[in-house]
Amino acid sequence: MNINQILADSIEKLKEKKIITPQLDAELLLGFILKKPREYVMIHPEHQLTKLQETGYKKILQRRLKHEPIAYILGQKEFYGLNFKVNKHTLIPRPETEHLVDAVISNLQLVNSKKIIIADIGTGSGNIIISIAKNNEQQSMSSNKIKYFGIDISEKVLAIAKKNSKIHKLNNKIKFIKSDLLKYFIDHCSLITDHCIIIANLPYLSKKIYFSAMPDVKNFEPKSALLSGMDGLDHYEKLFKQLKKILLITDHCSLILEISPEQKKSITKLIKKYFPNAHIEFQKDLAQKWRVVKLFI
Ligand SMILES: C[S@@+](CC[C@H](N)C(=O)[O-])C[C@H]1O[C@@H](n2cnc3c(N)ncnc32)[C@H](O)[C@@H]1O
Repeated sequence: MNINQILADSIEKLKEKKIITPQLDAELLLGFILKKPREYVMIHPEHQLTKLQETGYKKILQRRLKHEPIAYILGQKEFYGLNFKVNKHTLIPRPETEHLVDAVISNLQLVNSKKIIIADIGTGSGNIIISIAKNNEQQSMSSNKIKYFGIDISEKVLAIAKKNSKIHKLNNKIKFIKSDLLKYFIDHCSLITDHCIIIANLPYLSKKIYFSAMPDVKNFEPKSALLSGMDGLDHYEKLFKQLKKILLITDHCSLILEISPEQKKSITKLIKKYFPNAHIEFQKDLAQKWRVVKLFI
């Protein structure tokens, strides 16, 4: 069969299974099998597949028809212009999280301290901290000035983050550490230097949102990376409690968090409970949804 025939057949099947982007998905899967970019698939409808390629394609199409996310099938996802390895243990980086990276980068320009710690809590594939470190490297920001940390509770997730850091040639610059949120820093308080920027894209889905999510998310992505109690704020509340201990050591701290848009009110209430004097700033993502909250404490 040629690309044109295979695409027509698969798009029909994907539509039947209510896959939202059937053409894009089929083209990406074909490109993966042919080891060619998607653009090649789009402009070479006459290209004949070998029997081996056809069999390989059918296998991965079956996985997609069962709603397995494309990123898990391809084993990678693009984020902030870089490719990141992902597997079933890691959350698939979302485009809206790029906004968090931008928020950190612009915040960095306001920090005058000689030494800065940037800690990415719930690092997953390492997409956030790696994108920030890579950007700073490209801007020739002094590497002695900033210490980078990627924290996660899961060893399996950290293994992928370390791989990604190596792929992007940053393996000595970022320390990946297993810790329950900020526990590591509480136990190693001597690490806390002049200014601390804590970034977190922690699990934040409420029970209601999680259980109504698409099968691609609910059946394949790790629940431990998504769900956070009844209202989605259990992890952030625990982080705030821990941060209070860290604030006994440093008083220069900014916190930049990704949230679910409907949490603007509830997280404001929670922040005020723990940090009544904090300056709070919310930012919207490109879809005009509340996505990032910045705290200056
Ligand atoms: C929403 S995912 C974010 C992953 C990645 N930062 C991203 O933006 O794609 C949340 C991550 O937090 C981690 N996590 C969950 N509970 C944690 C805890 N108590 N301490 C540290 N990490 C935790 C999960 O393993 C998961 O990798």
